[in-house]
Amino acid sequence: MFAVYAAAPNADSPLDSLTVGERPAPEAPEGWVTVDVTAASLNMHDVWTLRGVGIKPDQFPMILGCDGAGTLPDGTEVVLHSIIGDPAWKGDETLDPRRTLLTEKHQGAFAAQVVVPARNAIPKPAGLTPAQAAVMGTAWLTAYRMLFVKSGLRPGQTMLVQGASGGVSTALVQLGRAAGMRVWVTGRTEEKRALAERLGAHATYPSGERLPERVDAVFETVGEATWSHSMRALKPGGVVVVSGSTSGPHPDADLQRLFFLQLRVIGSTMGTRDELADLLAFVANAGIQPEIGLELPMAKAADGFRAMLDGETAGKIVFTQ
Ligand SMILES: NC(=O)c1ccc[n+]([C@@H]2O[C@H](COP(=O)([O-])OP(=O)(O)OC[C@H]3O[C@@H](n4cnc5c(N)ncnc54)[C@H](OP(=O)(O)O)[C@@H]3O)[C@@H](O)[C@H]2O)c1
Repeated sequence: MFAVYAAAPNADSPLDSLTVGERPAPEAPEGWVTVDVTAASLNMHDVWTLRGVGIKPDQFPMILGCDGAGTLPDGTEVVLHSIIGDPAWKGDETLDPRRTLLTEKHQGAFAAQVVVPARNAIPKPAGLTPAQAAVMGTAWLTAYRMLFVKSGLRPGQTMLVQGASGGVSTALVQLGRAAGMRVWVTGRTEEKRALAERLGAHATYPSGERLPERVDAVFETVGEATWSHSMRALKPGGVVVVSGSTSGPHPDADLQRLFFLQLRVIGSTMGTRDELADLLAFVANAGIQPEIGLELPMAKAADGFRAMLDGETAGKIVFTQ
């Protein structure tokens, strides 16, 4: 079967491990379904996998792609929910200590076919193209949970998104705008800030620039490079919701500001199956067109990985068959 996979972990040169070739077709265990993949999207998680982060060495070779969409044998179009947990687990799957994401233990979606538990294949709303559906399960779901489940933000309040062009960032901007937030964004270049404005940001600022006023909530995936700005940007009692640390995981904690202004720091990871179903309904009901910056045939996946590693994102990067 055609597949894009990580041959072995490579911490220093992740792209050297990226292989386009053939892997055995997957077999669906009982209770699982085989999905013919129509489109799959790239996440920073795939780069971490190539580097060997979050995956045991004996799991290689591993087909990449924790985000995708496709069709079931009966023709139903589906979106993949990537969290595979213990079937006995009850409640929020993101808290299941035994959970894995596709590509951590089970083979991923950058392939002709992928197998997932039946509950992880969610019907695709008619309004979404396969490419748009393929971005929902990881970056968009993470943004949805950060904004609607974790932040406590109400429509009308002001949110700051650190990073303008990334997958999670662009999803936050589009979701926040549709939900009636005042959306502010930082971006590293004029081009990236222009993208955020086109997607609905009310105002954009160069990374690290002082804001005209403090905000109710900050959405962080960048980490060290933006953390101190995030802390300075918050109103007393404000909240920073964190789901990533692309530029480094050890920022200056700024504890005095944290306790004196009674700030809150909340971690967020992925989202539940029900949250993904709600996200799909929200995107369809609100008529949101998820931003896709680059669409490539899967065989050219290396070009997409390179763009992400070089910081040349402009919305999600999608691979099609
Ligand atoms: N916890 C979870 O469940 C979860 C889920 C999805 C993603 N994540 C994590 O979230 C992070 C983002 O993922 P992604 O897929 O959205 O990645 P991406 O598409 O590559 O986006 C990277 C973003 O980070 C910003 N950025 C990177 N380095 C920066 C720096 N030095 N200064 C300022 N901004 C910088 C970029 O801003 P510009 O637009 O200004 O270039 C861009 O918006 C990753 O670390 C990923 O692992 C976590």
